Amino acid sequence: MQILEQVRALREAVGAWRRGGERIAFVPTMGNLHAGHYSLIALARRHADRVVASVFVNPTQFGPNEDFARYPRTPREDAAGLESAGCDLMFCPTVAEMYPLGHDRCVQVRVPGLTEELDGAARPGHFDGVATVVLRLFHMVQPDVAVFGRKDFQQLRVIEYLVRDLALPLEIVPAPIARDPDGLALSSRNRYLGEEERARAPALHRTLVAMREGWREGRAIPSIQDEALASLRAAGFVPDYAEIRRSADLARPAGTCDEILIALVAARLGSTRLIDNLPFV
Ligand code: PAJ
Repeated sequence: MQILEQVRALREAVGAWRRGGERIAFVPTMGNLHAGHYSLIALARRHADRVVASVFVNPTQFGPNEDFARYPRTPREDAAGLESAGCDLMFCPTVAEMYPLGHDRCVQVRVPGLTEELDGAARPGHFDGVATVVLRLFHMVQPDVAVFGRKDFQQLRVIEYLVRDLALPLEIVPAPIARDPDGLALSSRNRYLGEEERARAPALHRTLVAMREGWREGRAIPSIQDEALASLRAAGFVPDYAEIRRSADLARPAGTCDEILIALVAARLGSTRLIDNLPFV
């Protein structure tokens, strides 16, 4: 596996593969990789001849009081893990390489509407930073296909919107959520959890399952959501939201029978913010 920090070297490597007629898949990450990320690499392999992964903790998607400085950085372990997962190239640019004019002076893209709700409301500017860095990465790697986890479901929808609206010549492939046996979705942030918090954390997934059960029983959505918030609080979380939305565009359900719905939750356990979701299919 090649490990490259510079855009120029990345373009040479990927350009050579492309000239040889090979199809390129791309998996963007912020590193501190776990089995969830590696499952994305495996899925990417099935869609292309070459797999490129990026490891970049993106400063523009963190709020001023968020965990940018303490976000876990484990480049050596990530490189070893990516290599055994079948990745061909690890791209790990510095902040200066990604944002040559300064990350506070960079050209930005913003997806309207969708980014102002749910995690966008709880983390103002977050999705602008995500869209900005992902567009840059797409431009640098020029993949045929890019894989995003359903774990960050709103992020997946934001990227799909970006690709569609800018007519970017690539396909977005969603990947299923990898979970621990007790239901907790794998996340780099799980390592912040103390032992007692880790024991409480599966309540997040249990709440989603209860939301789906409530909906299947025909209960009203507002009461399902209220009960979910209450059960998260009872489990020691401070919830940001527990909502049932339309899967296609994350709008509030209109009540028509052709809608596919999804439950999404975000909640803090101590100082750790966790998110999860469950489609109603
Ligand atoms: P990061 O949180 O490192 O996640 C990278 C990719 O892994 C995302 O597509 C995310 O949805 C996926 N992922 C994380 N945990 C997962 C799990 N348990 N199961 C399945 N997929 C999982 O998301 C980001 O980084 C950044 O916002 C990024 C897109 C790289 C832009 O900076």
